[in-house]
Amino acid sequence: MTSEIMEQADRVIAKTYKRFPVVLSKGSGCTLFDTDGRRYTDFVAGIAVCNLGHSHAGIAQALSSQAQTLWHVSNLYYTIPQVELADWLVQHSFADRAFFCNSGAEANEAAIKLARKFFNERGESQRFRIITMEQSFHGRTMATLSATGQDKIKKGFEPVLEGFDYIPFNDPEALRTKIDSSTCAVMIEPIQGEGGVRCPDSGYLKAVRQICDQTGVLLIFDEIQTGMGRTGRLFAYEHFGVEPDIMTLAKALANGLPIGAMMAKEQVAEAFGPGTHASTFGGSRGLQNPCPGQRNQPGT
Ligand SMILES: Cc1ncc(COP(=O)(O)O)c(C=O)c1O
Repeated sequence: MTSEIMEQADRVIAKTYKRFPVVLSKGSGCTLFDTDGRRYTDFVAGIAVCNLGHSHAGIAQALSSQAQTLWHVSNLYYTIPQVELADWLVQHSFADRAFFCNSGAEANEAAIKLARKFFNERGESQRFRIITMEQSFHGRTMATLSATGQDKIKKGFEPVLEGFDYIPFNDPEALRTKIDSSTCAVMIEPIQGEGGVRCPDSGYLKAVRQICDQTGVLLIFDEIQTGMGRTGRLFAYEHFGVEPDIMTLAKALANGLPIGAMMAKEQVAEAFGPGTHASTFGGSRGLQNPCPGQRNQPGT
C-alpha cells in the first residue's frame, strides 16, 4: 500500500518536491501516523502552519459547522466571520485594515501592489522599486520570487520582474545607500526563515524603521512564517519595538486551511479602492466563531 501510493505519486504529481518516503494518514496534536502505523512527532508543524496541532477538535467543529451553514461568498457581500476575523487582526496588530487571500505569496503580491499603488495615487509613479534582503524568501509567484533574495529560487524563470533591489540583511548602511527617489518600500522578514534562520541584530529593525521614516519609504514586514505566535509573541515585530506600514500573514493563520492576509495602516490601505485588487476565494475567509460565547476569537 505504502509503496504503491509513492509510486502512484511519482507518476501523477508534479515533481516540484523531493518527498520523504513516508505516507501520512492521520494526525492528532503534534503526533502524526503513517500508513504502516509508525508515529512521528511533527516538530515543524507542517511548514510552520499547524500551531494548534493536527485535527484540533475546535477547528474541526468550526469548519464542519461552517461548511453546513454558508459555503462560499464572494467579496461582493458581507459575512460575519470575515468581518470578525479582520476585526480581531486589527485589534491585535498595528494595522487598520485586512485584505484576505489564499496564501503567503498572494499576501505578498498584495503588499507589493499596495506599495506601488500608494505612491501612484500620490502622483509619484516613478517610486515603484522595492528593496528586499539577500537570503530572503517571499514566495514562488513571479513577483514574489523576483522579490526573493536567493538566486536558486529564480533560476530558470528569468527574466524576473523589474523593480527589486537586494541588500544584505542586518546592514542599515546598505539600506541607507540603496534607497533613492525610485524606492517605494522595503520588504523584510523580521526574522529570516528560509535562507537559514537569521535574527536581526539588536537595533537593526529600529534603524530600518527610522531610515524608512526619514525617506518616506513604506516598511513591509513579511510575517508569513514568524506571525501568529511562532516566535512567542503574536507577531515577531512586537519583540523589536517597531511597527511596519504593511504586514503579510499566512501559514499558521488558519492552522492549515489556505488563507493569507495583507494588513495595512489606514493611510496606506486607502490606496486600494474598489476594483484595484481582488481574490475570488478571499471573500469566504473566516469561520463562525469556533469558541461560542467568546467574541473576538480568531476565526480561520
Ligand atoms: C517568509 C515567507 N514568505 C512567503 C512565503 C510563501 O508562502 P506560501 O507558500 O503560502 O505562498 C513563505 C513560505 O514558506 C515564507 O516563509
